[in-house]
Amino acid sequence: MLPFWSLAMNDSNFHFSLKEKSKPILKWAGGKTNLLPQLLKIFPVNFYRYIEPFIGGGAVFLSLTKKIPAIINDYNKEVFNLYMGILENPKEIIKNLDRYAKLYSEEFYYELRKNIPSSNYEKIARTIFLNKTGFNGLYRQNLKGEFNVPFGKRDACPTLYEIENFLKVSERLSSVEIFNEDFENVIDKSGQGDFIYCDPPYEPLSQTSSFNSYNSIGFNQQEQIRLYDSCVRASRRGACIIISNSNSKFILDLYKDFEIRKLFAKRAINSNGKKRGEIEEVLIFICEPNLRKFYFNEVKHYSSNELELSM
Ligand SMILES: C[S@@+](CC[C@H](N)C(=O)[O-])C[C@H]1O[C@@H](n2cnc3c(N)ncnc32)[C@H](O)[C@@H]1O
Repeated sequence: MLPFWSLAMNDSNFHFSLKEKSKPILKWAGGKTNLLPQLLKIFPVNFYRYIEPFIGGGAVFLSLTKKIPAIINDYNKEVFNLYMGILENPKEIIKNLDRYAKLYSEEFYYELRKNIPSSNYEKIARTIFLNKTGFNGLYRQNLKGEFNVPFGKRDACPTLYEIENFLKVSERLSSVEIFNEDFENVIDKSGQGDFIYCDPPYEPLSQTSSFNSYNSIGFNQQEQIRLYDSCVRASRRGACIIISNSNSKFILDLYKDFEIRKLFAKRAINSNGKKRGEIEEVLIFICEPNLRKFYFNEVKHYSSNELELSM
């Protein structure tokens, strides 16, 4: 890795852009597309490598403009396969999607949900098809680890892909390392010059309120503490970390020694339709004080009052 002072001399600001970004291939619970304008304003302007340990639909990663080195990761095997497949052979996935679009019906949806194809590119097309035609763009597994979202009941098959975007995402992935591991292994790879954006399953605001079951294992408070520990270790090695999470008491207590900003997000996925709308969430900044000048081009520390007003 390059030494810190040579990084600071690189002209590597403005890594993200709303205009040039590619779009997520999957609709994903907790997707960050709506929050991007707020996030990009407060992300670091200078870093050598981008790391996203909970990639999901990848809205943030796909707004990176320059082909700087990056690591993306998700514990979900289907998400991992999707990015690998789009990198290796997007046209083969498109071929299968065109075939599935012609077969669109409720019956076909349940048939494909039940029977996983054996070829890898068909499997990836299945992931996209079920995601786009299932109910509300949810990804949910039962305790056996099987995808169990019901049919979305649209009259006609929705657009499954946009060819230009598909090829753009494929091109973007060519300078990226893609992993299918637990977040801790990926965060442990980081060091000075790395910006890590963590968007884990959120700590529920109440026992019934939030969706955070992306897989059959779930993400409990022990996992949140494990994430906290690995981020603190990464910052001691010189990485800069920003974490999204809910504005829950548990999270505010856990990160009480760090800077916390509140954001307001529009969320469509809530089992109770009346509660859909704006949910308060937080961004946590973890960065050694002597490295802030490099990552953010500033040394300012926010007072808690300023943070709440600043958005
Ligand atoms: C909130 S979503 C990320 C959403 C993403 N930022 C987007 O814009 O679509 C959280 C992701 O964490 C993944 N995940 C859950 N547990 C994990 C673990 N232990 N290690 C790595 N990824 C995990 C889930 O599969 C899910 O894709």
